[in-house]
Amino acid sequence: MLNQTASTSTRVIPTAGAALTPTPASQATELPTIGFIGLGAMGSRMAVRLLSAGHSLSVWNRSAAAVQTLAAQGAQAQATPADAARGEDIVFSMVFDDAASREVWLHPQHGALAAMRPGAIAVECSTLSPAWIDELAARAAERGVRFVDAPVAGSRPQAQAGQLIFMAGGAAADVDALRPTLAALGGAVHHVGAAGAGARLKLVVNALFGIQVTAVAELLGFARSSGLDVDASLAALRSMPVMSPAAAGAAGLMLAGNDTPQAPIDLIHKDLGYAMDAAAAASGNAAALPLTAQAQQVFAAAAARGWGAENLVAVRKLYA
Ligand SMILES: NC(=O)c1ccc[n+]([C@@H]2O[C@H](COP(=O)([O-])OP(=O)(O)OC[C@H]3O[C@@H](n4cnc5c(N)ncnc54)[C@H](OP(=O)(O)O)[C@@H]3O)[C@@H](O)[C@H]2O)c1
Repeated sequence: MLNQTASTSTRVIPTAGAALTPTPASQATELPTIGFIGLGAMGSRMAVRLLSAGHSLSVWNRSAAAVQTLAAQGAQAQATPADAARGEDIVFSMVFDDAASREVWLHPQHGALAAMRPGAIAVECSTLSPAWIDELAARAAERGVRFVDAPVAGSRPQAQAGQLIFMAGGAAADVDALRPTLAALGGAVHHVGAAGAGARLKLVVNALFGIQVTAVAELLGFARSSGLDVDASLAALRSMPVMSPAAAGAAGLMLAGNDTPQAPIDLIHKDLGYAMDAAAAASGNAAALPLTAQAQQVFAAAAARGWGAENLVAVRKLYA
């Protein structure tokens, strides 16, 4: 249960496995009630895990089909973000970009933030710009709503398995209050600073990953065009410290020709843009991240070929 101003709406829910039989009070666990906004590839998987952990879950998504899928598993379908947030202890958002996040939190008629009670916690897990997160955190503070930005490392398989890694920005007490809930979603919660710190670190992570993916695509292309056996080359590279685990994973997918969407090109393209904007704003130098800018151009070229919905490793096709 949440500390400080935990709500009276916190429900007593039997522990997993005891749901169908009367449960002695000693076996019951008090769990915070949750609103979940954004049931895309990541959000839907996270929501299912929260349901499985026994939370009462209100859900909203822009398109209705995803809401119905969650409702069939026990979630309460809601008509607006405000309805999904009203009265809940914790409200998560997992949507595409800044514009979507602004829409779901601050829409004048149906935004979630205005529906939240003071003392509840708003958790923004999407990968967004620090400028927007700073604004959202300030708006939450004006309403007495506690705010944590908690973007994630890990993709669809990790979301499904509850193995996401959270980079949390916010007050330590608020991050600590979330830890029992986040435990259903992830293997680690790193409290990295005040509100906005999670968003900033997430852009560092994605720039580091995006740069490596474009480098691997380019250099595997070079290995192939120069006559090397690329499978043997990758086997050798895997044994060397120069190959990071992330780069090795991407290279394996590239050689397997596996572009099944996990982290699509359109998402990483967005994130690298946010990183460049944030770095420019922080340093006053519009070209503060030249390598990131180069990587973003590669992803832009792939998106221009119509591959935006494919996994980011599909940039390999630029070098085929
Ligand atoms: N996929 C990954 O590997 C990964 C990993 C870490 C972090 N992330 C981040 O997590 C977030 C979600 O990613 P995802 O893979 O789940 O993306 P996704 O499958 O494309 O889902 C995007 C979600 O945002 C909603 N949305 C888009 N525009 C909206 C708007 N204007 N108003 C309201 N809702 C809107 C979509 O609603 P509809 O269903 O109606 O389209 C959907 O629920 C992104 O910020 C992404 O960068 C993704």
